[in-house]
Amino acid sequence: MKYYVLNHKNKMTYDEALKFSEAVLDLDLSNSKLIIVPSALYLPLFTGVHYYLGSQDISSFEEKTVTGEITGKQLKSLGVNYVIIGHSERREYCNETDYSLITKINNAIINDLKVIYCVGETLEERKLNKTFYKLEKQIARVFNKIKSAEIIIAYEPIWAIGTGLTPDMNQIQEVSSFIKKLVKDYYGKKAIVLYGGSVNETNIESLKAVENVDGFLIGGASVDVQKVAKIIK
Ligand code: PGA
Repeated sequence: MKYYVLNHKNKMTYDEALKFSEAVLDLDLSNSKLIIVPSALYLPLFTGVHYYLGSQDISSFEEKTVTGEITGKQLKSLGVNYVIIGHSERREYCNETDYSLITKINNAIINDLKVIYCVGETLEERKLNKTFYKLEKQIARVFNKIKSAEIIIAYEPIWAIGTGLTPDMNQIQEVSSFIKKLVKDYYGKKAIVLYGGSVNETNIESLKAVENVDGFLIGGASVDVQKVAKIIK
Protein backbone atom coordinates (compact mmCIF):
# COMPACT_ATOMS: atom_id res chain seq x y z
CA MET A 1 0.00 0.00 0.00
CA LYS A 2 1.57 3.30 -1.11
CA TYR A 3 0.99 6.78 0.30
CA TYR A 4 -0.19 9.48 -2.10
CA VAL A 5 -0.09 12.98 -0.64
CA LEU A 6 -1.81 15.59 -2.81
CA ASN A 7 -0.29 18.97 -2.06
CA HIS A 8 -2.63 21.48 -3.73
CA LYS A 9 -0.53 24.46 -2.57
CA ASN A 10 -2.29 27.76 -3.43
CA LYS A 11 -3.53 26.49 -6.79
CA MET A 12 -7.32 26.36 -6.69
CA THR A 13 -10.26 28.74 -6.54
CA TYR A 14 -13.21 27.83 -4.34
CA ASP A 15 -15.22 26.42 -7.29
CA GLU A 16 -12.31 24.31 -8.47
CA ALA A 17 -11.76 22.92 -4.98
CA LEU A 18 -15.46 22.13 -4.66
CA LYS A 19 -15.44 20.22 -7.97
CA PHE A 20 -12.30 18.37 -6.93
CA SER A 21 -13.83 17.42 -3.58
CA GLU A 22 -16.78 15.84 -5.39
CA ALA A 23 -14.78 14.11 -8.11
CA VAL A 24 -12.34 12.56 -5.66
CA LEU A 25 -15.14 10.46 -4.15
CA ASP A 26 -15.14 8.30 -7.30
CA LEU A 27 -11.49 7.30 -7.04
CA ASP A 28 -10.69 3.67 -6.43
CA LEU A 29 -8.48 3.74 -3.36
CA SER A 30 -8.43 0.05 -2.60
CA ASN A 31 -4.65 -0.18 -2.65
CA SER A 32 -3.62 3.34 -1.69
CA LYS A 33 -3.47 5.61 1.30
CA LEU A 34 -4.62 8.97 -0.04
CA ILE A 35 -3.94 12.17 1.91
CA ILE A 36 -5.51 15.29 0.44
CA VAL A 37 -3.79 18.53 1.41
CA PRO A 38 -5.91 21.41 0.10
CA SER A 39 -5.49 25.08 0.82
CA ALA A 40 -6.57 25.63 4.45
CA LEU A 41 -9.49 27.70 3.14
CA TYR A 42 -11.06 24.61 1.59
CA LEU A 43 -10.45 22.04 4.31
CA PRO A 44 -14.16 21.96 5.29
CA LEU A 45 -15.05 20.84 1.73
CA PHE A 46 -13.17 17.60 2.20
CA THR A 47 -15.27 15.35 4.36
CA GLY A 48 -14.84 12.03 2.55
CA VAL A 49 -14.31 9.02 4.73
CA HIS A 50 -12.12 7.02 2.38
CA TYR A 51 -9.15 9.40 2.43
CA TYR A 52 -7.19 11.36 5.02
CA LEU A 53 -6.91 15.11 5.31
CA GLY A 54 -3.68 17.09 5.62
CA SER A 55 -2.70 20.69 6.22
CA GLN A 56 0.00 22.56 4.30
CA ASP A 57 1.14 24.34 7.45
CA ILE A 58 0.53 24.76 11.17
CA SER A 59 1.07 27.79 13.34
CA SER A 60 4.11 27.95 15.57
CA PHE A 61 1.87 29.80 18.06
CA GLU A 62 -0.43 27.33 19.74
CA GLU A 63 -1.41 29.29 22.86
CA LYS A 64 -0.70 32.92 21.93
CA THR A 65 -3.43 34.96 20.23
CA VAL A 66 -2.01 35.82 16.78
CA THR A 67 -4.01 37.30 13.88
CA GLY A 68 -3.99 35.22 10.71
CA GLU A 69 -2.59 32.05 12.24
CA ILE A 70 -4.14 28.55 12.17
CA THR A 71 -3.41 26.39 15.20
CA GLY A 72 -3.10 22.63 15.50
CA LYS A 73 -6.19 22.59 17.66
CA GLN A 74 -8.19 24.30 14.89
CA LEU A 75 -6.85 21.87 12.28
CA LYS A 76 -7.73 18.91 14.45
CA SER A 77 -11.27 20.23 14.87
CA LEU A 78 -11.68 20.06 11.05
CA GLY A 79 -10.67 16.41 10.92
CA VAL A 80 -7.08 16.99 9.79
CA ASN A 81 -4.76 14.02 10.42
CA TYR A 82 -1.47 15.10 8.82
CA VAL A 83 0.57 18.27 8.47
CA ILE A 84 3.34 19.08 6.00
CA ILE A 85 6.26 20.79 7.73
CA GLY A 86 9.51 22.06 6.23
CA HIS A 87 8.46 22.27 2.58
CA SER A 88 11.26 23.94 0.62
CA GLU A 89 8.93 26.68 -0.66
CA ARG A 90 8.08 27.65 2.92
CA ARG A 91 11.71 27.41 4.02
CA GLU A 92 12.69 29.75 1.18
CA TYR A 93 9.79 32.19 0.77
CA CYS A 94 8.40 32.25 4.31
CA ASN A 95 11.79 32.22 6.04
CA GLU A 96 11.06 29.15 8.09
CA THR A 97 13.94 28.38 10.40
CA ASP A 98 14.92 25.21 12.26
CA TYR A 99 13.56 26.87 15.40
CA SER A 100 10.11 27.53 13.93
CA LEU A 101 10.05 24.05 12.37
CA ILE A 102 10.74 22.42 15.73
CA THR A 103 7.96 24.46 17.33
CA LYS A 104 5.58 23.50 14.53
CA ILE A 105 6.47 19.82 14.84
CA ASN A 106 5.86 19.98 18.59
CA ASN A 107 2.53 21.72 18.06
CA ALA A 108 1.49 19.04 15.58
CA ILE A 109 2.40 16.26 17.99
CA ILE A 110 0.62 17.91 20.92
CA ASN A 111 -2.53 17.92 18.77
CA ASP A 112 -2.10 14.35 17.62
CA LEU A 113 -1.34 15.35 14.02
CA LYS A 114 1.16 13.28 12.04
CA VAL A 115 4.07 15.18 10.55
CA ILE A 116 5.20 14.87 6.94
CA TYR A 117 8.63 16.44 7.20
CA CYS A 118 10.20 17.61 3.90
CA VAL A 119 13.90 17.57 3.11
CA GLY A 120 15.90 18.02 -0.08
CA GLU A 121 19.03 19.37 -1.68
CA THR A 122 19.58 22.11 -4.26
CA LEU A 123 21.06 21.25 -7.66
CA GLU A 124 24.33 22.82 -6.65
CA GLU A 125 24.47 20.67 -3.50
CA ARG A 126 23.81 17.57 -5.57
CA LYS A 127 26.57 18.47 -8.03
CA LEU A 128 28.97 19.01 -5.14
CA ASN A 129 28.03 15.61 -3.67
CA LYS A 130 26.53 17.23 -0.61
CA THR A 131 23.12 15.59 -0.77
CA PHE A 132 23.57 13.20 2.15
CA TYR A 133 25.26 15.85 4.27
CA LYS A 134 22.35 18.27 3.70
CA LEU A 135 19.67 15.68 4.42
CA GLU A 136 21.36 14.47 7.58
CA LYS A 137 21.60 18.06 8.80
CA GLN A 138 17.94 18.78 8.03
CA ILE A 139 16.78 15.63 9.77
CA ALA A 140 19.11 15.60 12.77
CA ARG A 141 18.64 19.27 13.67
CA VAL A 142 14.92 18.99 13.89
CA PHE A 143 14.26 15.47 15.03
CA ASN A 144 16.88 15.56 17.76
CA LYS A 145 14.55 17.81 19.69
CA ILE A 146 11.40 15.79 19.51
CA LYS A 147 9.96 12.38 20.04
CA SER A 148 7.52 11.46 17.34
CA ALA A 149 5.53 8.26 17.23
CA GLU A 150 5.50 8.03 13.45
CA ILE A 151 8.17 9.57 11.27
CA ILE A 152 7.23 10.40 7.69
CA ILE A 153 9.94 12.05 5.64
CA ALA A 154 9.36 13.40 2.15
CA TYR A 155 12.51 13.55 0.08
CA GLU A 156 11.98 16.42 -2.37
CA PRO A 157 15.05 17.57 -4.31
CA ILE A 158 14.49 21.32 -4.63
CA TRP A 159 15.56 21.26 -8.29
CA ALA A 160 12.89 18.66 -9.08
CA ILE A 161 9.91 20.57 -7.64
CA GLY A 162 7.68 21.91 -10.40
CA THR A 163 10.43 21.61 -13.03
CA GLY A 164 9.57 18.35 -14.81
CA LEU A 165 12.98 17.01 -13.76
CA THR A 166 13.51 14.00 -11.49
CA PRO A 167 16.63 12.30 -10.18
CA ASP A 168 17.29 8.93 -11.74
CA MET A 169 15.65 5.99 -10.03
CA ASN A 170 18.93 4.74 -8.50
CA GLN A 171 19.52 8.12 -6.91
CA ILE A 172 16.04 8.11 -5.36
CA GLN A 173 16.56 4.58 -4.08
CA GLU A 174 19.96 5.51 -2.63
CA VAL A 175 18.53 8.53 -0.80
CA SER A 176 15.47 6.78 0.58
CA SER A 177 17.63 3.92 1.91
CA PHE A 178 19.97 6.49 3.45
CA ILE A 179 17.06 8.26 5.21
CA LYS A 180 15.65 4.99 6.54
CA LYS A 181 19.02 3.94 7.92
CA LEU A 182 19.64 7.37 9.43
CA VAL A 183 16.31 7.43 11.27
CA LYS A 184 16.80 3.86 12.45
CA ASP A 185 20.33 4.61 13.74
CA TYR A 186 19.40 7.91 15.42
CA TYR A 187 15.99 7.11 16.82
CA GLY A 188 15.60 3.35 16.58
CA LYS A 189 12.49 3.93 14.46
CA LYS A 190 11.25 2.91 11.07
CA ALA A 191 10.70 5.94 8.83
CA ILE A 192 8.11 6.12 6.10
CA VAL A 193 9.87 7.75 3.13
CA LEU A 194 8.02 9.55 0.35
CA TYR A 195 9.45 10.93 -2.86
CA GLY A 196 8.29 14.30 -4.21
CA GLY A 197 9.29 16.45 -7.19
CA SER A 198 7.59 16.35 -10.61
CA VAL A 199 5.71 13.12 -9.95
CA ASN A 200 3.15 12.68 -12.71
CA GLU A 201 1.03 10.14 -14.56
CA THR A 202 3.86 9.26 -16.96
CA ASN A 203 6.78 8.71 -14.58
CA ILE A 204 4.78 7.10 -11.75
CA GLU A 205 5.22 3.56 -13.05
CA SER A 206 9.02 3.70 -12.76
CA LEU A 207 8.82 5.58 -9.46
CA LYS A 208 6.53 2.96 -7.93
CA ALA A 209 9.15 0.32 -8.65
CA VAL A 210 11.84 2.09 -6.62
CA GLU A 211 12.75 0.08 -3.55
CA ASN A 212 12.34 1.72 -0.14
CA VAL A 213 9.96 4.43 -1.38
CA ASP A 214 6.68 4.19 0.51
CA GLY A 215 4.75 6.77 -1.46
CA PHE A 216 4.69 10.15 -3.13
CA LEU A 217 4.15 13.83 -2.42
CA ILE A 218 2.55 15.31 -5.51
CA GLY A 219 2.16 19.01 -6.31
CA GLY A 220 1.37 20.12 -9.89
CA ALA A 221 -0.33 16.90 -11.03
CA SER A 222 -2.40 16.65 -7.83
CA VAL A 223 -4.95 19.29 -8.79
CA ASP A 224 -6.18 17.24 -11.78
CA VAL A 225 -8.39 14.34 -10.68
CA GLN A 226 -7.88 12.45 -13.98
CA LYS A 227 -4.14 12.54 -13.45
CA VAL A 228 -4.52 11.51 -9.81
CA ALA A 229 -6.67 8.55 -10.93
CA LYS A 230 -3.89 7.42 -13.31
CA ILE A 231 -1.21 7.93 -10.66
CA ILE A 232 -2.86 5.83 -7.98
CA LYS A 233 -4.12 3.11 -10.33
P1 PGA B 1 5.54 19.12 -7.93
O1 PGA B 1 5.52 19.61 -6.41
O2 PGA B 1 4.90 17.76 -7.96
O3 PGA B 1 4.76 20.15 -8.67
O4 PGA B 1 6.96 19.05 -8.35
C1 PGA B 1 5.84 18.74 -5.36
C2 PGA B 1 5.82 19.48 -4.05
O5 PGA B 1 6.19 20.64 -4.01
O6 PGA B 1 5.41 18.91 -3.02
